[in-house]
Amino acid sequence: MTMATSSPAEYQAAMKRALELATTGPRTGPNPQVGCVLLDSSNTIVAEGWHEGSGTPHAEIMALTNLAHSGLSAEGLTAVVTLEPCAHTGKTGPCAEALLKAGIARVVYAVSDPGAASGGGAELLGTAGIEVIAGVEASAGEALIERWLHSVTASRPWVTLKWAMSLDGRTAAADGTSQWITGEETRAKVHRDRSEHDAIIVGINTVLVDNPRLTARTPEGDLYPHQPLAIVMGHREVPQDALIREHPGGFEHVSDHDVQALLTSLGERDIRSVYVEGGATLASAFLAEGLVDELHITMGPMLLGGPNLAITDLGVSTMADAHHLSITYIQRLGEDIVLTARPQQEGSL
Ligand SMILES: NC(=O)c1ccc[n+]([C@@H]2O[C@H](COP(=O)([O-])OP(=O)(O)OC[C@H]3O[C@@H](n4cnc5c(N)ncnc54)[C@H](OP(=O)(O)O)[C@@H]3O)[C@@H](O)[C@H]2O)c1
Repeated sequence: MTMATSSPAEYQAAMKRALELATTGPRTGPNPQVGCVLLDSSNTIVAEGWHEGSGTPHAEIMALTNLAHSGLSAEGLTAVVTLEPCAHTGKTGPCAEALLKAGIARVVYAVSDPGAASGGGAELLGTAGIEVIAGVEASAGEALIERWLHSVTASRPWVTLKWAMSLDGRTAAADGTSQWITGEETRAKVHRDRSEHDAIIVGINTVLVDNPRLTARTPEGDLYPHQPLAIVMGHREVPQDALIREHPGGFEHVSDHDVQALLTSLGERDIRSVYVEGGATLASAFLAEGLVDELHITMGPMLLGGPNLAITDLGVSTMADAHHLSITYIQRLGEDIVLTARPQQEGSL
């Protein structure tokens, strides 16, 4: 990599625009959201691009194509990209080589690509004499694609665990009914969150008791464009007339209790994020194994009493073994409270 002759601060505004463009692409799917802007010698944006998902051109290629459509040359320009340009040929060609070939003089990026196959683009560019500046707006870049980064480095999908409970910590009444503990606004958020994960997972009991559809629907009742794969875990059979069998994102029954093995096999299929929707037995299994990255605890203003606690045994017999969380966000949705929390230390949940 050559020595930087320009300062990273010069590129912050352009990187913020590239980050904004990245959000245009889908949050789900095997590939991360990436944005790119091309700057002329006065750091004015002359072309923009972003990645629209697996199998479509990468952000850098879209920006170069848009530049060519404007009749401009890339010779001597600076490419500002939210992720290190890739160095491998997947469904599309390597971006680092395309930038090189186009005559780009400088590449500025936010986040290094940890992918064993895709990483190494910066080195390739540096060796070819291109000025490379890494780490501009790195925190914002990492936050944008944290699920993807996590799934690539941990070799398993990001796990969001969600449950709805009464203020006394029950997820169902004594007869097993649980619809509805939270109100419409909270449920609308849950549907949106479903649409932003690659898969959802529920325990077999939830299917037998509730027969849920588990589709991701807008408040108007329409299906979101992205539907997660619906997975049911447990040995008992999923009834032939269960609504989840008709899930538009696909349906799979995993006749097993090994949550780690399930996540590993989903990771091998490039499934980057899962939304675990309970019930309490399945939720507790994920927690007990330390496999939860974020919790969404939604609370409706009611008391239910009775046996159906949100979480069962986690193997905590004394306070020293408690699973400590950091609450990262508190929302008031209608009459409900929605907490977002994360494990305090990696693997502590
Ligand atoms: N409020 C909420 O957010 C919410 C969400 C979902 C459900 N619910 C309510 O919760 C109740 C169902 O919860 P639940 O706890 O009884 O059932 P569950 O978690 O939905 O399913 C539990 C069953 O799944 C199987 N299973 C799969 N993986 C497992 C593992 N790692 N460890 C143990 N068992 C595993 C077992 O069945 P096999 O023996 O057949 O393998 C087990 O009996 C219903 O009343 C439902 O209405 C509430």
